[in-house]
Amino acid sequence: MLDAHSQNRLDELFDSMNEANKSFLGYPFAKDFNYEGLLRFMKLTGNNLGDPFTPGTYRVSSKEFECEVVEFFAHLFRAPFDDFWGYVTNGGTEGNIYGMYLGREMYPNGIAYFSRDTHYSVSKAVRLLGLSHSLVRSQPSGEICYEHLAEVAARAKNRAAIVVANIGTTMKEGKDNVRRIRETLVDAGIKDIYIHSDAALCGPYAPFLAAKPAFDFGDGADSITLSGHKFLGAPMPCGVVLARRQNVQRVLQRIDYIGAADTTLSGSRSAQTPIILWYAIRSLGVDGIKEAFARCERLAGEVVDELDSIDVSAWRNPEALTVVFPPVEDSIKSKWQLATQDVSHLVVTPGTTKRQLDMLIQAITKSRRLSPRQVTATA
Ligand SMILES: Cc1ncc(COP(=O)(O)O)c(C=O)c1O
Repeated sequence: MLDAHSQNRLDELFDSMNEANKSFLGYPFAKDFNYEGLLRFMKLTGNNLGDPFTPGTYRVSSKEFECEVVEFFAHLFRAPFDDFWGYVTNGGTEGNIYGMYLGREMYPNGIAYFSRDTHYSVSKAVRLLGLSHSLVRSQPSGEICYEHLAEVAARAKNRAAIVVANIGTTMKEGKDNVRRIRETLVDAGIKDIYIHSDAALCGPYAPFLAAKPAFDFGDGADSITLSGHKFLGAPMPCGVVLARRQNVQRVLQRIDYIGAADTTLSGSRSAQTPIILWYAIRSLGVDGIKEAFARCERLAGEVVDELDSIDVSAWRNPEALTVVFPPVEDSIKSKWQLATQDVSHLVVTPGTTKRQLDMLIQAITKSRRLSPRQVTATA
């Protein structure tokens, strides 16, 4: 039982997180999920220790559901039916580190290539794994510059390439083309190539885009990561990483203590997040994901038009949920939690409302009236 002071602090924390959830446009986190049907699991301990596909001594787990989540995405991402593997991670970062870990285990002397627009988790993976790396220029859309990739790769023909392709860059949702990356590297004379697709945001909907990006196993990716909390929605961070099973065999160790194979980065792993993701994919299904995407995309298109109508040069990549515009003033950035670098952006995710977007547009309109300026965010 909490004392009155602690209870009060807890109530205040709830109110402030609840309030912050309502004015949240700059980072891609879905907000309209409802997992009340799962509340009873909060009364149980649970731990998906070790490999999801091998049973262990430890049975207080949701591994069966975790495998179904992995299988769902393996199917969507055209993984070879007899050579895929995966697990539910803590989020996109863990998936990126894992993908690059497999790449490094295959090619210990490999060089990591990724574009400047790549998420900072990839630089972290490079440091952790002790990889050499080569930063590649990006196009204004955020997509990797293939000509520059060819140029830098040609300088190290004798070394393997471990590439991170962005299927939705963090700031602009630019999408790299895995097929073109592989062709570029082959043309540059590189024989050994490992490609990891970072589909943190777009993973759940990328397979359904009208202009489907070349990002999955069928397109030549060796591993793929997605975040669960970004588009599908979860009250805590989570994600999925998928890889080719034969590559995972290299890192597998049999651990007597848990009676299972150790293939994952974390030892103890959440049993709750696989249940949440399972619930999300079972209740939404493919049609629900498509509908949620269509709603978000329509809203993102409207925001671009409305910002343009007040002379703010906003833009988005084709079929993207991320709207890019010139940096906004600090008070707006802080109220709406807008990620800002050389540009600001907002991301329309399930649960983003027209009313929130209207309020943001009103705030931008007002700030421009007070300090009129014509600014341009270039695509
Ligand atoms: C492209 C990209 N990759 C990876 C990540 C990291 O994902 P997470 O926050 O789930 O660790 C992000 C997060 O914004 C991202 O935008």
